[in-house]
Amino acid sequence: MKAAKRKSRSMSATTPRLLVTGASGKLGHATIAHLLGSQKVPASQIVAGTRKPETLADLAAQGVEVRKVDFEDAAGLAAAFAGIDRLLVISTDALEQPGQRLAQHKAAIAAAEAAGVAHVIYTSMPKPEPGNPVLFAPDHWGTEQALEASKLAGWTVLRNNWYFENIFMSAASILASGHWYTAAGEGRYANVGRDDCAAVAAAVLANPPAGKVKLDVTGGEALTVDEVAALLSGATGKPVEVVKLTSQQLAEGMAAAGVPAPWVPLLVSFDDNGRAGGFNLVSDTVERLTGRKPQKYKDFLVANAKALAG
Ligand SMILES: NC(=O)c1ccc[n+]([C@@H]2O[C@H](COP(=O)([O-])OP(=O)(O)OC[C@H]3O[C@@H](n4cnc5c(N)ncnc54)[C@H](OP(=O)(O)O)[C@@H]3O)[C@@H](O)[C@H]2O)c1
Repeated sequence: MKAAKRKSRSMSATTPRLLVTGASGKLGHATIAHLLGSQKVPASQIVAGTRKPETLADLAAQGVEVRKVDFEDAAGLAAAFAGIDRLLVISTDALEQPGQRLAQHKAAIAAAEAAGVAHVIYTSMPKPEPGNPVLFAPDHWGTEQALEASKLAGWTVLRNNWYFENIFMSAASILASGHWYTAAGEGRYANVGRDDCAAVAAAVLANPPAGKVKLDVTGGEALTVDEVAALLSGATGKPVEVVKLTSQQLAEGMAAAGVPAPWVPLLVSFDDNGRAGGFNLVSDTVERLTGRKPQKYKDFLVANAKALAG
């Protein structure tokens, strides 16, 4: 029995099993694509964790094991994480009930610790320390603190900057009206493509850094709203005028435009953070870990010009 256990541990060291939670989500699915693709990890080493295993037949067909993973089901996480050496915990989208998301992430970390996972990777946000105005920053900071307090031998925090893709939420109305309303002032954003975040997550899963590390995952430049608006206008051929507002004016305008009430303070808090410089940091993480330069915002906008116009 002891010999068998030793054998399984040493096999695990040479052929580690990697689990990605939230595997049916956009980041999770793209991370597994990078593991199979650029990282050349055999499918037999990869486990896709999701609340909806039935949606991942494409990965199962490629030889990836699909397991049910739901951070709300703390008891089920023991079986879900059994035999896993490296675990990517993708932050969830449970924003409606305060405290729920942090509790989910803490349950995942506790289960990873109990299952003997060697290295946990977590998707955080830039500068989440106390004082960050983004209303959900405490979820990320609390999760980072839970990693710090854990007995895990290794972890990596990926502080992903805001995705380029977030512009899909507002581009159609900006282009239809010709106005981009913002309270971000002259603040700079080091936005990054989601696929670059996935490529970094896959690189860390395949070759985790030793010990406990926090990495800023950003694009290659930090742009103001004026600069992004000019790029959006150039890509789509439509005029975009930036209208600078106070946070109060922005909140009133969003409410008048029919943005659901619970979302208004959250969206305004993003602009407050932008104005305060919370997104203004450029790192070399994407190129250093993946060997490829991060996508440029201009190229993303040109590639998606038709879809952005709605
Ligand atoms: N940096 C940014 O700009 C930005 C923008 C949007 C979101 N985010 C954050 O980054 C995460 C990934 O982004 P995305 O684009 O992939 O978002 P997405 O496609 O909306 O994915 C949401 C993810 O949350 C997972 N999830 C929800 N409830 C869960 C639970 N109870 N247990 C385990 N997993 C749960 C889902 O997993 P399954 O459905 O597979 O179970 C799914 O992977 C988001 O969830 C959010 O925390 C960051």
